[in-house]
This record gives sequence, C-alpha cells and structure tokens, in this order.
Amino acid sequence: MTVVAVVGAQWGDEGKGKIIDFLSEQAQCVARYQGGPNAGHTVVTGDEQFVLHSIPSGIVHPGKRCLVGHGVVIDPQALLAEIEHLESREIRVEGRLTISPGAHLIIPYHRLLDQASEKHLGGGKLGTTGRGIGPAYTDKAARVGVRLGDLLAPDRLREKVRMNLQEKNLLLRELYGQTELSLEEILQEYCVYRDRLAPFIEDTTLLLWEAIDRGDHILVEGAQGTMLDVDLGTYPFVTSSNAAIGGACTGLGIPPKVITTVIGVVKAYATRVGEGPFPTELTGKEGDVLRERGMEYGATTGRPRRCGWFDAVVARYAVRVNGLRFLAVTKLDVLDEAAQISVCVGYRWQGKEYREITSEIPSLADCEPVYVERRGWRESTLGVTSYEALPIEARNYVEFISSEVGVPVGIISTGPRRDQTIVLQNAFSPPP
Ligand code: GDP
Ligand code: IMO
Ligand code: MG
Repeated sequence: MTVVAVVGAQWGDEGKGKIIDFLSEQAQCVARYQGGPNAGHTVVTGDEQFVLHSIPSGIVHPGKRCLVGHGVVIDPQALLAEIEHLESREIRVEGRLTISPGAHLIIPYHRLLDQASEKHLGGGKLGTTGRGIGPAYTDKAARVGVRLGDLLAPDRLREKVRMNLQEKNLLLRELYGQTELSLEEILQEYCVYRDRLAPFIEDTTLLLWEAIDRGDHILVEGAQGTMLDVDLGTYPFVTSSNAAIGGACTGLGIPPKVITTVIGVVKAYATRVGEGPFPTELTGKEGDVLRERGMEYGATTGRPRRCGWFDAVVARYAVRVNGLRFLAVTKLDVLDEAAQISVCVGYRWQGKEYREITSEIPSLADCEPVYVERRGWRESTLGVTSYEALPIEARNYVEFISSEVGVPVGIISTGPRRDQTIVLQNAFSPPP
C-alpha cells in the first residue's frame, strides 16, 4: 500500500493539477479531500487542456478511480457542468467518479452570501472566488449544513433547506438588500440534481479503506495551498478549509499513518490571487513580466495573479506543517529569460531577522524579505526532461532552493504538458 499526498506549499495554483495528472499514471485511485469549485486545477496532455474544479485531476487518465471525500463542498450545478464537459470531450466520468454522501452542498444562498459579504466588506474584502465556499463551510461548522446524502431523503432535504432559508433570507433581505430565495424553487432545482448525481453517491471512506487493504497505489489531492489553510495560513486571508495535510485525514477518513509520502508543490517563484499579505510580491514591471511569461491568470475566475519571488520561509513552513518528503518545483521555464532571480531566505521585522514564520510577527504584511540574488540562465528549459540537460545555473537555482528549504526537490516541471517533467525521486517508492 502506498498513499502519496500532493499539497500546495504556497498560496494555491502551484501546479498541483499537472503533478497529480503526471503521478496518476502510477496510481489506481485519486482522492480529493477539501475545497470546492474555488479550485482550478489545470491538466495539459498532448495538445488538450482540461481545468478541473471539483473532480480529481486523475480523471484525465483513462481507468483511474476518482473519489471526492466528505471534506469537499459540492456545488451540484457546477459539478454537473464539469461532468458533462468532460464527457463531451470523451473523458469517461460515469463509473469512475464517486462522491461521499457526507460532502456538504453549496446552495444558491451560499453563493449570494459570499458575494454580498465581500461587497459589504468593501476595502476589507478577502477577494474570494465568490463560489459560496466560506458560507457553505460556515454552515458545516454551525451544524446546519445540507449534505449530498440529504438529496436522497426528500423530506429531510426540505426541512433542512426550509430551516436554513429562514435565516438566510433574513440576512439577504435585511443586511444585504437582496430579494429572498424561494424554498420551492431551490427544492425543484435540487431534485433534478439528485436524479443526475445519485449514481455517483457512495461511501468514499469505505472505498478508500478497501483500496488501502488491497495494497493499491493511492494519490491524495489537495486544493488551494498551505498558506490558504484556515488554521495554518495567513488568517483571515485564507480559504475556509484545511488545505494542508491535516485536511486529508479529516476530509477522507484516513489515519495519518497510512500516508506514506507528502509532496509539496511550489512554483519556482510565487503567486497569490485575492487579498492578503505576500512579502515577496513584485508590484512593478518585474511582476508583470512573471505574470505574462507564466500566464498567471486564475484558472477559475480569470483574475490576474499577483506575482513575486520564491519565498523559502513560506516553503520551510510548508515542510514543517505538512512533513514534506520532497518538493515538486513547477514553472522553472518561466524564469528562463530572467538575468537575475531573487530568493527570499528570511524576513526582517522590527530590526530582527527571522527564518521561520512565527506568531511573534503579527502579520506577514509587515515583513521585509531578505533576498539572496541568483544568476539566471538565459536559456530555454521548456520541455527539458533530464536534470543533466538543464543549464548549470538552473540546476544551481534548484539546489539552492532545496538547501534553503531543507528537503530535496523530487520533481521539476519544465512546461505545462504531462511530458515536460523531470523526475528525480519516485513518489511511490518507499521514503528513504
Ligand atoms: P493548481 O491549481 O495548483 O492545479 O494550478 P493551476 O492549474 O491553477 O495553475 C498552474 C498553471 O501553470 C496552469 O496553467 C498550468 O497549465 C501551468 N503549468 C503547470 N506547470 C507548468 C510548468 O512547468 N511550466 C509552465 N510554463 N506552466 C506550467
Ligand atoms: P487551487 O486549488 C488560488 C483564494 C481566493 C481568496 C481566498 C478565499 O486552484 O490552487 P474562497 O473562494 O476559497 O473563499 O477564497 O482563497 N483561493 C485560491 N487561490 N488557488 C485556489 O485554488 C484558490 N481557492 C481559493 O482567491 O483569496
Ligand atoms: Mg488553480
């Protein structure tokens, strides 16, 4: 049995979809543990590109079993659109995708409340994806959430939505000045979803235990990134779930001891979408160059991503909280034309230097990055598949990152495509 977890080690969009798709070849099963349609995971095969939101990125590989655990929040409308889109492009989903009945549902009031509360916050907004993620997880924690399994019990569904709607309509009308939602319309809409989603609903935890008992190779897929984790990230500028490895245990129902390897995906630089502290952000022309070369526009919302230099303090933190065995470094090719590349190795705050994130520093927004300059390679690395074929400065850069972060680099991605990858460590072999 080998369970390999892939987590984002920065602020999301690190290239998890590409790495999961690449590793799916070796796995029988891919299981997603948290987040919802706020995620956008891009998979590029030959000349085709797929963007997955709620379905595990393993779906693009024929025959792989894909599980969505109870830690994920499901927007049935968005999920069905995703299934139909994949099926229309000859990716078979039925018979391969299973979703936990315990996964909480996003109901139209969640989306409305997400968007309305962002407007209400004005300058203090979080810059959410507006997909209803926060309000859906709020209801889960408040123990009033509606779950996928409730779709199969019409009376229970009616009662839960009715109860919720009393409160949500009050908020929508009185606080946000919006029109109320109708119970009957919601129920009618969700009955249609029930009919179409019923074949996908089954206990994913049991399926996972059985796969573990069989000795299958299992990939565990995280969404967002460690710095967006509701407990470990840059709170309150975070998402509403546990994107770091803890979420894999709670969101899938597996114990920590079955997870053999945790891989942290990082870009060779850094990006962030939405508001919140980002110490190495480049707000001028250098940031624009990274954005254009890296095509840094959100896979879900199309928003331009904020860009900056690689932050080894953040990556070190991700190593600590996730127990990373190695890093998968993506988008090395995006740095091909840079004459000089900076790496943040520490933070300066109130005259003191820090190598670790600590609550002594109230907000990362107040930190000044301590940079080490590295020479660029000014040569194309696009599509390079062997480490030896990388320019010496590129190898030096990767090795510098590895030594600063304190774990090896096991995978290097040199382009969006599946085959544009350098493998230095086999994720499915036992850790040394
Ligand atoms: P995820 O959310 O972590 O799966 O990442 P996204 O899919 O949101 O964003 C990563 C983007 O970078 C996608 O457009 C990928 O196709 C692209 N990408 C991934 N790896 C590489 C790489 O090594 N080089 C380049 N140029 N693009 C990459
Ligand atoms: P993937 O899985 C990058 C960000 C939003 C916002 C904050 C809260 O593709 O890496 P939310 O809608 O979750 O309540 O928004 O989190 N965010 C992401 N940023 N990649 C993602 O997912 C993200 N999912 C949410 O921009 O700042
Ligand atoms: Mg993404």
